[in-house]
Amino acid sequence: MAVSNLAIVNAEISEIVSGLSEDRKQISPKYFYDERGSQLFDEITQLPEYYLTNTELGIMRDNIGEIVAMVGKQASLIEFGSGSSLKTRILLERLSELAAYVPVDISRKHLQTSAEQIREQFPDIDVLPVVADFTQAFALPEPRVMPVRNIVYFPGSTIGNFEQDMATDLLHVMYQEAGEGGALLIGVDLQKDPDIIESAYNDSAGVTAEFNLNVLQHLNRDYGANFNVDEFSHSANYDQAKGRVVLELVSQANQTFEVADAAFDIAAGEAILTEYSHKYTLDGFAAMANEAGFSVEKVWTDAKQLFSVQFLTRP
Ligand code: AVJ
Repeated sequence: MAVSNLAIVNAEISEIVSGLSEDRKQISPKYFYDERGSQLFDEITQLPEYYLTNTELGIMRDNIGEIVAMVGKQASLIEFGSGSSLKTRILLERLSELAAYVPVDISRKHLQTSAEQIREQFPDIDVLPVVADFTQAFALPEPRVMPVRNIVYFPGSTIGNFEQDMATDLLHVMYQEAGEGGALLIGVDLQKDPDIIESAYNDSAGVTAEFNLNVLQHLNRDYGANFNVDEFSHSANYDQAKGRVVLELVSQANQTFEVADAAFDIAAGEAILTEYSHKYTLDGFAAMANEAGFSVEKVWTDAKQLFSVQFLTRP
């Protein structure tokens, strides 16, 4: 039987409460993505300062012939995340002889909506959505056609949300899901001029600020919290030594808030960590990939070396 929504919400509430109970208050970035948050993230990807999405799309378009050749025929494409992005479509349009497309996401709703969109646009593809927490190993569905190999797809530099150990573990889960002869196609953001990075997370239109603050609205709406959203402000700084952007919500006053039955004090100037976004050197990412079992077979970048798309194989 499926785990009930109530059980999931209860588990999420305890996760949120325990994050806010730590010395360094934190909320997982996965709570950004309610309906409003997903909308705001879409807006972020259109911002002139947010180079990640457009650069990755450009790399995919410029190299699609080579990418498709490396994937090969009759592969099963397993996307970590619900998919239906423009990047996925670029890939599916050219991967004509695909055994299956398997989007994997924790949110049944996101998954269903995007699977329907993909089926509509690609009626010949065997679309087999899987509801799972992809940070843990999960069982793959059996396509109608036996796949020649599994290709895991993880675009968007979402890997950057995880700290080193967790990122390595997640890459290893992908290594397992890829199976023998399988591979990983992954988008990885690169270290660069800190001004370029900081602008991407402090856009002049204020969309990223709204996106960051929306996490509090989301907790208020769906998790019984009572944050005074106007009393927090967005902050994003690039820590060059650690190679990561740190997104926070800084309390503008000494105040209290509650989540479900738990009460919290927060001091003026104290921050809630909402996201890390790690940026890599090519060598640094290769070392992490190797530790997870992969070898880097191919790296595509843009002319300015802002972003990379990488093809990792099981040696
Ligand atoms: C979706 C995790 C890749 O880190 O750039 C965008 C999310 N946060 N602006 C990123 C995000 C603030 C994004 N990732």
